[in-house]
Amino acid sequence: MLNSEGFNLWADGYDKSVELSDEEGAYPFAGYEEILEKIYHRALSCVNKNVLDIGFGTGTLAVKLYAQGCRIFGQDFSEKMIAQAQEKMPEAKLCQGDFSLGLAVELKRHQYGAIIATYSLHHLSDAQKVCFLESLLPLLEDGGCIYIGDVAFQTRQELEQCKVQAGDEWDGEECYFVFEEIKKSFPKMTFEQVSHCAGLMTLGK
Ligand SMILES: C[S@@+](CC[C@H](N)C(=O)[O-])C[C@H]1O[C@@H](n2cnc3c(N)ncnc32)[C@H](O)[C@@H]1O
Repeated sequence: MLNSEGFNLWADGYDKSVELSDEEGAYPFAGYEEILEKIYHRALSCVNKNVLDIGFGTGTLAVKLYAQGCRIFGQDFSEKMIAQAQEKMPEAKLCQGDFSLGLAVELKRHQYGAIIATYSLHHLSDAQKVCFLESLLPLLEDGGCIYIGDVAFQTRQELEQCKVQAGDEWDGEECYFVFEEIKKSFPKMTFEQVSHCAGLMTLGK
């Protein structure tokens, strides 16, 4: 699993490698652009324009929302990712912090119309995902939603099929979403499969 130093090293080449993997329809980023596009439209339609981005990286999605007038808040542990994103969004409130230890205190002081997390929460174990998502729900405004776009599968069997297909490319250290399993903790959560290895989960209060 990459630590903050690993993401610092990846920051400059990140956008290009994601684009290539998505264009090839390959694990792990097949469906990336489509997922970000769907979340973009849904976050924009929220009444409250405060958007919290968990693990925002180079800011690909947040920058588009910022350009439309959303107030962007975010947390990431990579200095290099934060520097790149902050340059593109000077007014955004971006905090450095490891989300496996919880949300930064400054970010808990606000309410959000949308909380977005793309390709970041697979760095948490399944138990950590549940705790973290539970801690985020009270920060949603009425009608707000958490949108999670990530490597994700409806069933464990589908994850196993993708693992076989991906062969040596498969990252066994990352912990991908299996919707049927996480839904047990969040019965209101919905799931849309976007590619053979990616899905969009939506969770309201
Ligand atoms: C694969 S990138 C995704 C970036 C962006 N959301 C996107 O969709 O392109 C994962 C991001 O999450 C951050 N990240 C990973 N684990 C983290 C953790 N435990 N705490 C804070 N940030 C973390 C990384 O630094 C990186 O910027």
